[in-house]
Amino acid sequence: MSLEDFTVSESLLLTIAILGGTGKEGKGLAYRWAKAGYQILIGSRSSEKAVTTASQIMELLEGSSSVVGTTNLEAAGQADIVVVTVPYSAHRDTLESVKDVLKGKLLVDVTVPLIPPKVSKVQMPAAGSAAQEAKEIVGEDVEVVAAFQNVSHEHLLGEENVECDVLVTGTSKKARAEVLKLVEATGLTGWDAGPIENSVVVEGLTSVLININKQYGSTHAGIKITDVPKRSPD
Ligand SMILES: NC(=O)c1ccc[n+]([C@@H]2O[C@H](COP(=O)([O-])OP(=O)(O)OC[C@H]3O[C@@H](n4cnc5c(N)ncnc54)[C@H](OP(=O)(O)O)[C@@H]3O)[C@@H](O)[C@H]2O)c1
Repeated sequence: MSLEDFTVSESLLLTIAILGGTGKEGKGLAYRWAKAGYQILIGSRSSEKAVTTASQIMELLEGSSSVVGTTNLEAAGQADIVVVTVPYSAHRDTLESVKDVLKGKLLVDVTVPLIPPKVSKVQMPAAGSAAQEAKEIVGEDVEVVAAFQNVSHEHLLGEENVECDVLVTGTSKKARAEVLKLVEATGLTGWDAGPIENSVVVEGLTSVLININKQYGSTHAGIKITDVPKRSPD
């Protein structure tokens, strides 16, 4: 199914691949989407590791959902929507390894270009942002949307309310609208934050939040958009 074919009622029939879904952020998102009814493929460099993570999530959900573990390439090939949740140091290699099977699909990039040890300092790649770099790597036939970069993994693997909004930027309004549905499915509030060029601000905000965490003894500072009536974007 291509992005052009999506309708609201069909959304929950979609399969989401999460590359690096064995990690902290990917596992949390997988849990929330599986709970909402999406079919989830956990991707990894190691299919054994992915199978273990998928079983852990299924256990948390008491077996009521579909979560399967496999390699990043298999997962990306079988999914309608591909989410990438790997450290920035692995971003390019991971995307290069799956780009041939991404054509016509929607890529959701959660990556923040953190460069240790200075992760509380904004450091953007030459492309402008990690999401723009992703677009350069995957090419014209793939819509790229950046989202969830400011959401700490800490409360995703549970039922708690996550007090952080999600700013959604991307290559088309239609693609952003599709990802806003994914945000809603996680129980968070999403906002259409415009074209993919705006992802530089959202990715940069993560370093600002890390800085705030360090200075004020927190681990999961977030952001909220205020004074805007909540409705579908025009
Ligand atoms: N953690 C958060 O709270 C949070 C919040 C917002 C945004 N993010 C962003 O989301 C992304 C993932 O964060 P995370 O905390 O989930 O990361 P993580 O747990 O450190 O790693 C996620 C997964 O990436 C894969 N990976 C790690 N190193 C790799 C390498 N050198 N080459 C290829 N794959 C590698 C691993 O999967 P396999 O070993 O299974 O292949 C790992 O399980 C990052 O870009 C981060 O900035 C994180």
